Amino acid sequence: MNKLSIVGAGIVGEAAAQIIAREEFCRELMLIDVQGELAQGKALDLWQAAVESGSDTRVYGGANAELLQDSDLVVITAGVPRKPGQSRQDVLSINLPILDSIMRDINRHAPAATVLVVSNPVDVLTYRACSLSGLGRKRVFGQAGVLDTARMKCFIAEETGFSARDITALVLGGHGDSMVPLMRYCAVGSVPLAHFLSDQQIERIVRRTRQGGGEILGLKKVGSACDAPGVAIAEMVDAIAKGRNRILPTVAILEGEYGRTGIAMGVPCVLGELGVARVIELPLDAQEQGKRSINPTKLNMGGALS
Ligand code: 2OP
Repeated sequence: MNKLSIVGAGIVGEAAAQIIAREEFCRELMLIDVQGELAQGKALDLWQAAVESGSDTRVYGGANAELLQDSDLVVITAGVPRKPGQSRQDVLSINLPILDSIMRDINRHAPAATVLVVSNPVDVLTYRACSLSGLGRKRVFGQAGVLDTARMKCFIAEETGFSARDITALVLGGHGDSMVPLMRYCAVGSVPLAHFLSDQQIERIVRRTRQGGGEILGLKKVGSACDAPGVAIAEMVDAIAKGRNRILPTVAILEGEYGRTGIAMGVPCVLGELGVARVIELPLDAQEQGKRSINPTKLNMGGALS
């Protein structure tokens, strides 16, 4: 990949940038933030760190939207994080106009760029970003499930005592309380989780995964999780930059899959060079169908919530 831009040089954008630069996922990495000098300073620091790791990725920063020019991929992390006690929906009124303005900038300066939305509430903002872009759902999508899955793997490792390396997990649905961990698809060393854990233990894992972001926020008090979200972004960027065709949980616009149209929701997708190559529709059992009916908020173009 030639050029990747991250809009939002806060703690999540910075954590992602650090890995992307170090791993040389692109030739040029641009950090863009309303606080231009802060972005410039962080970019210089990250560039120097990348060089120390043997990477030739050049990192630049600033505030000017023109810096987006020629981006192949734009990652949006800008916006305010929620405060302890707030839901992700509570920051919508602040983050929606920020997203709108960034999409205007992308449409103007990098209209062909693939867009990865990370800012919260990610399901709603991904839907909005896709609506404002002419690129369609293959090129505009969001990150949530890679992070939620990583959290679930931690809790499975803790509960079973097995290495997280051997754990596979899958979550569906919204990023938050409407998340649906698909325990049937969770396994340790290919052995279904139910072989090792009781229903009670599995329920504990599910509950903690749903509240994973809130647990960290409640402890940190200021600022949300940043390191694990940064790694999750880097994992998706890696899949795109290297054209890996990985199956990763991705916030995608549904066009009839899972019985839904016109909403963005976390679903397994094939992620490769051209973005979302395919949405994978899994058969859901009656219990999962019931949980699936908890709908991530839909945002209409008019700005109304339904
Ligand atoms: C989280 O779950 C910030 O939404 C992000 O930590």
